Amino acid sequence: MSISVHNLSKTYGNQKAVDSISFSVNKGEILGFLGPNGAGKSTTMKMLTCYLPPSAGTASVCGLDIIHQPIAVKQKIGYLPENNPLYYDMYVKEFLEFAWHINGMKTPNNSQQKIKNSIELVGLQVEQHKKIGQLSKGYKQRVGLAQALIHEPEVLILDEPTSGLDPNQLADIRQLIRNLAKEKTIIFSTHIMQEVQAVCDKVVIINKGKIVANDTADNLQNMLSNETLVEVEFENAIAVDALKEMPQIHAVEKISDTHFVLHGKQSKLLRKAIFEFAVQKNNPLLLLKEESKSLEEVFHQLTGKQ
Ligand SMILES: Nc1ncnc2c1ncn2[C@@H]1O[C@H](COP(=O)(O)OP(=O)(O)OP(=O)(O)O)[C@@H](O)[C@H]1O
Ligand SMILES: [Mg+2]
Repeated sequence: MSISVHNLSKTYGNQKAVDSISFSVNKGEILGFLGPNGAGKSTTMKMLTCYLPPSAGTASVCGLDIIHQPIAVKQKIGYLPENNPLYYDMYVKEFLEFAWHINGMKTPNNSQQKIKNSIELVGLQVEQHKKIGQLSKGYKQRVGLAQALIHEPEVLILDEPTSGLDPNQLADIRQLIRNLAKEKTIIFSTHIMQEVQAVCDKVVIINKGKIVANDTADNLQNMLSNETLVEVEFENAIAVDALKEMPQIHAVEKISDTHFVLHGKQSKLLRKAIFEFAVQKNNPLLLLKEESKSLEEVFHQLTGKQ
């Protein structure tokens, strides 16, 4: 277990920003941390990176306790904070060298090689001679990622690493995150559902400080859909009443004499029943396509439209 969180809480005044959350991340996994604005994502990340002390509960990173071993924990973690704080008057390489030193890396001989590696890893080569303040937003974001990677940490905690990137950069950074996960454990927060589906092994959805879901992206989608819709097309015309003979089907939408959308509950049972039905009626099935709920709808369902 690379990250283990147990009943972690943070109270600001009388507000419970994080309310007794527990989850874990295995080595090599990417956990997507999802939730509406103000849900408590950044606060959780600040506690895991030992930037803020928890009000209650515990957590460990690579077996090290965040309360009792904060320095050792920080050495294991690369952190990209929310809003990517950077020194705009520094040059890219100068800043990365600074990041190398403040991470306590004591072998300056190979710092240049490590800086070069991190620049290449995040695709900063063409912009590496500029001042940070002169870079576009996406490239500033890459500098933020490079500083999180410079000391080759085992764990990456990235608070909205893809916010404000154009679609090409988005694809690049997602690919980078996936590549990094071959060797590292990653938690990243985002508001983009497709990103979670594209990148993550696991999803934790948090709302008003509490975890409302903790599962794989696929499972979440299946589990939370009250209804499954399956689009079907048969070779020969078929009556709606005949389709309703299947007990798994709750409703039928007719598109044409051969083409329908069938409503049922459990996707797998429904699809199996449709296949068996087609065989029994000797009416070849030309199309059998599940229209699943998007993770976005699942998110709305769990967190309530704001
Ligand atoms: N230093 C602070 N003092 C008081 N309240 C705070 C502080 N930091 C955060 N909060 C409150 O805690 C709650 C959770 O904030 P947090 O920044 O963790 O949310 P988030 O999930 O990261 O949201 P976003 O998606 O907008 O970044 C919010 O209601 C916020 O106002
Ligand atoms: Mg935040």
